[in-house]
Amino acid sequence: MRLEPPPPTAPAATRPTTRDRAYAAAARLKRAWYRRPRVGLILGSGLAGLAEAIDVEFDVAFEDLPGLLAPTALNHNGTVMCGTLAGVPVVACGGRLHGYEGHPDGQLRFPIRLFDEMGVDAVVLSNAAGGVNPALRKGDVMLMTDHLDLIGRQSLTELRRVRLPTPAADCYCPRLCGAAEEAAAAIGRPMRRGTYAALTGPTYETRAEYRLFRTLSVDAVGMSTAPEADEAARRGLPVLAFSTITNECDPDCLGETTGEQVVDAAAAAEPYLRAVVEAVFDREFAD
Ligand code: HPA
Repeated sequence: MRLEPPPPTAPAATRPTTRDRAYAAAARLKRAWYRRPRVGLILGSGLAGLAEAIDVEFDVAFEDLPGLLAPTALNHNGTVMCGTLAGVPVVACGGRLHGYEGHPDGQLRFPIRLFDEMGVDAVVLSNAAGGVNPALRKGDVMLMTDHLDLIGRQSLTELRRVRLPTPAADCYCPRLCGAAEEAAAAIGRPMRRGTYAALTGPTYETRAEYRLFRTLSVDAVGMSTAPEADEAARRGLPVLAFSTITNECDPDCLGETTGEQVVDAAAAAEPYLRAVVEAVFDREFAD
């Protein structure tokens, strides 16, 4: 019996790359909103209320944009907002995706790629964090000036596509940090600088871990932000990043910490953080 030759195969469907998705997501926002954002913001745990400082002109749920998914973390509303903050055009993510939700490193970096496609000049990041340095008290806001990325998701395949190397020490923009410090001092609540360690989570740490981080000169611990700061720096975008201290990580006197307490403590620090961010915007980004 003669066999028919197999039909010609269609070319294998090519899956969109992360770059395609960032381009498509940016195109969607640009179609709906006519301004070029000067700053991209990521508003972390309990800080989504900072969104109230934004005069929103267009918003869309994460899951309705190519390359983003609905967040599962507590109080992360998962909205991309376009509008103005202190009169400055911004694009902002209300909430973020974390490694502990099962996402790979490229996904954690995606909002920065989106911001870059939108043409931002700088990135502002915020998170809720545990204060490891005893000088940091619940309700304080720490200015991130360095980090340890211990989320452990970075893979060489992900990193192949970007310029290497960029030391993390160079992530945080001295000029923007200086502006934030001056703004905080002018409000009458000076802001301490510190090193943030990004951990895997999702549980908070053991006493032994907090002791370890003290000996490593870590000031605050959390579960995010470092991949975003690194991605921004690799793209040449100046970064300003804040950690709101939501719990004190004293290994010898450790109280219970719940997600709800973290959200509430972060929300209490919001007016101060908002005042600092608005003052920096006024000074650095207003036309
Ligand atoms: N550890 C890790 N992440 C956190 C903490 C903490 O103590 N507090 C808020 N986010």
